[in-house]
Amino acid sequence: MTEAVRTDVSVADLTLEEKASLTSGADFWTTKPIDRLGIPPIMMTDGPHGLRKQSGATDHLGLAGSVPATCFPPAVGLSASFDPELAERVGAALGLESAIENVAVILGPGINIKRSPLCGRNFEYMSEDPIVSGVLGAGLVRGIESQGVGSSLKHFAVNNQETDRLRVSADIDPRPLREIYLRGFQRVVEDTQPWTVMCSYNRLNGIHTSEDPWLLTQVLRGEWGFEGIVVSDWGAVNNRVAGVAAGLDLEMPSSSGRTDAEIVAAVRDGRLAEAALDTVTERLLALVRKAQARPAADRPLDVDAHHALAREVAGRSIVLLKNDDALLPLNTSQSVAVIGAFAEQPRFQGAGSSQINPTRLDNALDGIVGTGGQDTVSFAPGFTLDDSGDAHALRHDAVALAESKDVAVLCLGVPAPEESEGFDREHIDLPAVQLRLVDAVLAVNPNVVVVLSNGGVVALPFADRVPAILETWLLGQAGGSAIADVLYGAVNPSGKLAETIPLRLEDTPAFGNFPGEFGHVRYGEGLLVGYRWYDAKGLDVRYPFGHGLSYTTFQIGDAAASVQSDGDVLVTVAVTNTGSVSGREVVQVYTSLPGSAVQRPPRELKAFASVPLESDETTEVSLTLRRADLAYWDVRVDRWVVEGGRYVVEVGASSRDLQSSTTVDVDGDSVSLPISLESSFDELLADPIVGAELQAAVEERLSLGAEELKMLGNFPVGRLDGFPLPRADILAFVERAGKH
Ligand code: BGC
Repeated sequence: MTEAVRTDVSVADLTLEEKASLTSGADFWTTKPIDRLGIPPIMMTDGPHGLRKQSGATDHLGLAGSVPATCFPPAVGLSASFDPELAERVGAALGLESAIENVAVILGPGINIKRSPLCGRNFEYMSEDPIVSGVLGAGLVRGIESQGVGSSLKHFAVNNQETDRLRVSADIDPRPLREIYLRGFQRVVEDTQPWTVMCSYNRLNGIHTSEDPWLLTQVLRGEWGFEGIVVSDWGAVNNRVAGVAAGLDLEMPSSSGRTDAEIVAAVRDGRLAEAALDTVTERLLALVRKAQARPAADRPLDVDAHHALAREVAGRSIVLLKNDDALLPLNTSQSVAVIGAFAEQPRFQGAGSSQINPTRLDNALDGIVGTGGQDTVSFAPGFTLDDSGDAHALRHDAVALAESKDVAVLCLGVPAPEESEGFDREHIDLPAVQLRLVDAVLAVNPNVVVVLSNGGVVALPFADRVPAILETWLLGQAGGSAIADVLYGAVNPSGKLAETIPLRLEDTPAFGNFPGEFGHVRYGEGLLVGYRWYDAKGLDVRYPFGHGLSYTTFQIGDAAASVQSDGDVLVTVAVTNTGSVSGREVVQVYTSLPGSAVQRPPRELKAFASVPLESDETTEVSLTLRRADLAYWDVRVDRWVVEGGRYVVEVGASSRDLQSSTTVDVDGDSVSLPISLESSFDELLADPIVGAELQAAVEERLSLGAEELKMLGNFPVGRLDGFPLPRADILAFVERAGKH
């Protein structure tokens, strides 16, 4: 470890050139040292589900090699656990591996919302829901930083597609921006105060996020209290001087000194206040000090222990979508045909900057043979991953094998070249050769278990015809063993869908608005992202958000909800494992507010808990709904507002399996609207100071029916002349109302 930064070094000790130099990388992964003052370089590297530390050639596309590291399930898998403690354990392992490699900051987690299933990078993101993204993201950050290593919460913000990602403007209204796309980031920042936040490549409502003072300073630091540094995504800087002024601390990777010189020139000629550069420099010195405070890792990586954790997490990431007649778990006396190239050549991570060089790699075939036995398990590839070979012959052999066995396990998935950082998918279909194989196998053997490997959701046209489906996402390096664990019941599946599986791409919320054109993408679906959309439109889906079965059964009892002294809502509910094996249920709490004054989806997830239960065990689960999470963003006053009223609280095992419902009365925040002649008559009536008096004055003069009042209510008071009151009276009411 390099010598510690002298504690007495302060911004005042640095020359203008030194300050500028500190704010951009020395090379691809390290910051610049200032030897004169004993300021060492620090290393930041990918992330997010394993360490990608390059010791030779460097790039941000995952092209050149990196040191071996444990490849944990990417976010798409981990999030299915709905378990922040599990995320924290993964984070701690990531932090430890970073510490061992002397990496100061690992570039993750990525918590962008899965707006469309077509986003090529969905495998790196958590969910279509901001609470799931925020809670699990916070778990990862806590774990990573428990090891004295920094995290980088990315990509801030509204980076939900890969198409034109360095230029596209995400054009979005304030409510979806706050309530869906920023909410998860806000939660992680406020709960965990991560060392760094990585700004995204894209523009937000026309402004590059890397130079957006509203985003990087007003919201992130001002409203949320962020104290760490903002690092640019690799190559995201458009105008470095504007970036520094906006609150961007560190440009990565190196600009070979070009932009440092721009900063120096801007300070010299007064276009950039030196104070802004000082602030950034001070924050960077603090980051280097934090990195230096970590004690040197004193032991090598325990490859076995981390592989075992990767296997446990992979088991928790698998979602049992269906299981008719309890076809699963298999027993070792059944003969099994394992079919599908993915069984031998696992897809365990996605392509791009998150590509890890795993310390080991398990495949499902070895795992199944290892449990089921050589004599009962046989394999046929059924298809190739690159479309080479004789498809007909491959299918023929696979069908013959399936016919001779008790059960056929079909390992299907999305070929690796279709899913990557850097571009989006064009469809959500499995390759035709795989779909044909499913039908051909079903024709000879009804006992088919489909095992899916995919980073983004796929359409499942065969879902009604096959009895069992496991959605295994991308499971990291131990996924093959975890698949066998679940198939044979050593692990009881407990994963839940953190994103809806739609029937068709055409049904999805952003369809027609994705990926935009000519540099703009309009977030036209507004608040109705993911399940919020399908529920609002009453659309059928293949499998709903939150869905996932188990080898046991659970029952959720009657829920009770009450407001606590701090304003949060406490929900308590009994959950029972009514089956014969131990398992886990993810209890989910959704709220709605009938009659709300603002647009709301039919229900929104506000809390969840992954609850382990032995057979026949009942436990009382307590879940806290934060008052802040009940708030909507009020565009009239530009702040969060909790609307008062009787909230419906639904508790269930998925967004469409709601087993208990109760209500809770919540006091609202008062909103004082500025009153002017542009205010509507209704708004003047609602004014706390003059409203009642106005009502009485109108009633005294006229007797208006409900419909007349409704019509009148919409009128700006400035345009009411003599009706229902003399204009002078109206002006007097407005004048007094305007005083609060
Ligand atoms: C990605 C980031 C990554 C960085 C460094 C960028 O292309 O968007 O997620 O951390 O490269 O590899």
